[in-house]
Amino acid sequence: MTRDAQTFDLDSPKLPKWVDDNAFSSGGYPHSHAFDEREFADLLVRLQIELVKLQSWAITRGERIVILFEGRDGAGKGSVIGAFRQYMNPRRTRVVALPKPSTSEVGQWYFQRYVAHMPTSGEIVMFDRSWYNRAGVERVMGFCTPEQTEMFLKEAPRFEAMLVGEGLKLIKFYIEVGREMQLARFWERRHNPLKTWKISDIDTAAVDRFDDYGRARDRMLETTHTDAAPWTVVLGNDKRRLKLNAIRHVLQLFDYEGKDRKVIGEIDAKVLGHGPGFLV
Ligand code: ADP
Ligand code: AMP
Ligand code: MLT
Repeated sequence: MTRDAQTFDLDSPKLPKWVDDNAFSSGGYPHSHAFDEREFADLLVRLQIELVKLQSWAITRGERIVILFEGRDGAGKGSVIGAFRQYMNPRRTRVVALPKPSTSEVGQWYFQRYVAHMPTSGEIVMFDRSWYNRAGVERVMGFCTPEQTEMFLKEAPRFEAMLVGEGLKLIKFYIEVGREMQLARFWERRHNPLKTWKISDIDTAAVDRFDDYGRARDRMLETTHTDAAPWTVVLGNDKRRLKLNAIRHVLQLFDYEGKDRKVIGEIDAKVLGHGPGFLV
């Protein structure tokens, strides 16, 4: 069976065996089993306590923190954001997940509608997808011209250098997921009544454009991984390792009051790395 022949109907009542069998290892995932559930629950709460300390420190210091999440449809952006925000002060934490641009936004400077959501002092803003739409979904789905993508790839590092130069802390995550795992998650969305809202025509189209998205990702990582705003790449097939290591990475970046390095522990370098080199 070739890869391309292995598409399936998301409406099929049963998840095909080849998808189920290959989901966890898809894309060359470097672990063979999911992280232990109880150990995960225990570690996560401890890390979330560290996040609460980080937030208090950020409020006291007036820090402005932006964490953006990119990745294929079904990569797990929503669930890792959920783990970050679960115990944070909702008044000082915002999640920004913008819909497709309105007619008036289409006429604006591309970055304009994102600028409006930047944090004020003491705030943490998480972008569930971001300005990088122009390098990914807009490019692959033809919602912008190739020239607009090229322009964006040139401008994004300058835009981000300006934010960082202004004192914002900017953390960029790219979450990768294997092909079969993506299929399994889409199938779950279609068949689980709690998740049906998550599936869109864009997701369905992503099934046949898996490799196009991969090429768009590579070019994006190559052109926008800068000293001022580097990419942190996390493999997301195992959502538990994804959450633990993404949170560890953020905690490691700050010297907040009461930081407990033992709790933060070590990053799993098999699932989290930096820049375009990590995925090759
Ligand atoms: P999500 O994966 O964020 O739940 P979708 O898969 O429906 O949502 O859409 C993916 C992204 O594509 C969203 O950020 C959405 O705003 C963007 N998008 C959808 N249609 C358009 C469009 N016509 N022009 C630009 N962006 C679009
Ligand atoms: P590297 O530093 O590139 O040797 O990668 C470190 C770990 O990540 C190794 O265990 C690799 O198997 C794993 N890895 C690298 N790229 C991928 C990928 N695209 N998908 C899954 N695992 C990867
Ligand atoms: C995604 O990455 O497409 C979703 O946000 C996944 C999720 O909700 O966990």
